[in-house]
Amino acid sequence: MNIGILTGGGDCPGLNAVIRAVVKRGAQFGYEFTGIRDGWKGLVEPMTTKLTLASVSGLLPTGGTVLGTSRTNPMKSEKDTEAVLENIKALGLDALIAIGGDDTLGVAAKLYAKGIKTIGVPKTIDNDLSGTDFTFGFDTAVSIVTWALDRLHSTTEAHHRVMVVEVMGRHAGWIAVYGGLAGGADVILIPEKPFDVDAVCGFITKRCGMGKCFSLVVAAEGAYPKEMSGMITKDKELDAFGHAKLGGVGEFLAKEIEKRTKIESRHVVLGHLQRGGTPTAYDRILATRYGVRAIELVHEASFVRMVALQGNNIVDISLAEATSKTKTVDPEIYRIAEIFFG
Ligand code: F6P
Repeated sequence: MNIGILTGGGDCPGLNAVIRAVVKRGAQFGYEFTGIRDGWKGLVEPMTTKLTLASVSGLLPTGGTVLGTSRTNPMKSEKDTEAVLENIKALGLDALIAIGGDDTLGVAAKLYAKGIKTIGVPKTIDNDLSGTDFTFGFDTAVSIVTWALDRLHSTTEAHHRVMVVEVMGRHAGWIAVYGGLAGGADVILIPEKPFDVDAVCGFITKRCGMGKCFSLVVAAEGAYPKEMSGMITKDKELDAFGHAKLGGVGEFLAKEIEKRTKIESRHVVLGHLQRGGTPTAYDRILATRYGVRAIELVHEASFVRMVALQGNNIVDISLAEATSKTKTVDPEIYRIAEIFFG
């Protein structure tokens, strides 16, 4: 059999570990592999590369994706959808493993309904896919946020300042909560709980009263104040899946805090640092486990499924369930984080 593999959406460390595991395990079944370049774009205008044991050797610790990625959405036009179906046939692909987030996997589910045998692998630093405890890429992003907070702590304390650190996560605050908890943040703000600027300032001034006249505030890019109607965006442009470019809450909050508390404040936007470089050991292992199980599902002819982590077990769930809704932050984990505010 000839199996197609593609990586779609925002990249993250661990993608190449999945590709390596799929090819390594699939070679044991005698399968051949076609790498699809730049996500779904590589099937709209065929752009492919052969994946062999030799070509995946050494990929485990590498960041990014050797296949390239994009946010192309072929379902936006009948013409592109038809082109994908025709190219899958012309390439002789017997099945397709899509490694991506809710957007990429949503396309995989729709293609199954048009007769394409698809399997999904949950990828995103946001950890916002339903049905899986963790997506790969998330642990690496949390480690980068923790590393950044550890470094920002010393300079913030030295200047008796407030540092607002804006982190990624689009519509769920998982990175902010886990990274903030691990990095010892004094306040953590997430889109799931619109915040009160005065309450944030209260935590900061309370610390000052205890002789700690410096604070680290972690804000998810989608977090916003109650008085606003929604998330702060960089511009009005939407991507192919209708997502706005989020950004600006860090700068907004640093200015407001300084104005209200008179404590010098600065902001840092970690941005794509959270998606760069080598995967953590945890993500390398999770990505490997996902890749092995994904190609085994192909071998078992169990399609339109997504591999998932539940507890310490790799299971499979329907792509429909996985992409049905955004997995938002568990209130229990946020309750624990709140204990350490101020
Ligand atoms: O979905 C992952 C993600 O990193 C989000 O956290 C972030 O908002 C978005 O991608 C950034 O998209 P891009 O890399 O296209 O700017």
